[in-house]
Amino acid sequence: MYSQFGDAFAIKSGTRELMDDLGAIARGGRDLINLGGGNPSLIPAMQAMFERAWASVPAADWVSLASVYDAPQGHPAFLERMSEVLRTQFGWPAKAGNLLVTSGSQASFFALFNLFGGTDTKGRLRQILLPQAPEYIGYAQSGIAPAMLTSFPGLIEHVADHRFKYRPDFDRIAVTERHAAVCVSRPCNPTGNVITDEELARLRHLAQDAGVPLIVDCAYGQPFPGIVFAPASLAWDEDLIVCLSLSKLGLPGLRTGLVVAKSETIDLLTSINAMLTLAPNPVGARLMLALMAEQDVLALAREVVGPHYAAASRRALAACDELLGHTDYLAHVSEGAIFLWLWFPRLPVPVQQLYERLKARGVLVIPGHHFGPGLSEPWPHLGQCLRLSYAQPEERLRAGLRVLAEELRALGYPG
Ligand SMILES: Cc1ncc(COP(=O)(O)O)c(C=O)c1O
Repeated sequence: MYSQFGDAFAIKSGTRELMDDLGAIARGGRDLINLGGGNPSLIPAMQAMFERAWASVPAADWVSLASVYDAPQGHPAFLERMSEVLRTQFGWPAKAGNLLVTSGSQASFFALFNLFGGTDTKGRLRQILLPQAPEYIGYAQSGIAPAMLTSFPGLIEHVADHRFKYRPDFDRIAVTERHAAVCVSRPCNPTGNVITDEELARLRHLAQDAGVPLIVDCAYGQPFPGIVFAPASLAWDEDLIVCLSLSKLGLPGLRTGLVVAKSETIDLLTSINAMLTLAPNPVGARLMLALMAEQDVLALAREVVGPHYAAASRRALAACDELLGHTDYLAHVSEGAIFLWLWFPRLPVPVQQLYERLKARGVLVIPGHHFGPGLSEPWPHLGQCLRLSYAQPEERLRAGLRVLAEELRALGYPG
């Protein structure tokens, strides 16, 4: 009855499960400890600045904000100003024609994956290569063609007591004519891994040699919101597509994403915007424009948002060591983003069961098996992992970790 595309949505994705959990919280009712979703912290200094910026939008602008369609590429004055910031402060050779506003970077990925991946004019399936699993849950199901994503498990490196890190498996990663683009989240959601400059350069070369773009998902990264704690740089050029978002600056409700790419790609994405939404909602762009009139947004990322999460991440890892350190647990090193990725190598049940036990006790986390989009075969390691957000107040995280420790004990998890 439905198309192949429609039928793919009959299987409830991890993203849907996660957003349903968030929706239940938004409806109120039960007091849940939400360590599951991607909601950012409410950082008082940032909230105050957003409110001031919003108040500074003249009442007369209401008409141009709400009563007319904006341009399909995004609000022109915002594209001009943002490209100027990226050029003058971040050294990217980007002009307004290299930028596009979308309804959140989730929407950017749907457009980009289907722009490049899928059946080409010669009838061949061309895939999006995600070089290192675990990867972002939201990439799953974003290809209209079936089997559009492909991925390889990361290599596991034990870096210290209770700590590990994934590395790209360059012996296996090859970009061939089967691939239409390469995409990596940096920092990575769910793991907090930041692929190094050297690893990024290798991926860039592999993509360049194959003549395909490298898409870097900077939802947490540079130049904003700047939630990066490891040394990392990112130079944009026309072979690279960078996806940015206002969400983790603290504005997820405004659903505003930004794509930086060569003008030919931006032109195609503009047509997709026009077809899908006629024009993106201008509220996020207009708020940012007002904010940028008063504030240096890149400095806010560097000096307010990044340090807030760096401190929260240190406290969160310390809490894990304190409350789980007696067990055989490992945490991925926290190099960026807003999550902890925990690994229980001797978990006696699938992690979905642990998730359900925790949910029954009012603690929401995300089970690890959702984070392998594109893997050709199951990777049992993911079924021993879970993702926790540390963006919420520390007492909530500690309360959740205590329940997790109790449930592990109830499952006889080894100490
Ligand atoms: C890695 C990554 N990419 C993209 C997104 C989508 O963000 P948004 O659509 O809110 O811009 C998220 C959201 O959590 C994310 O974690």
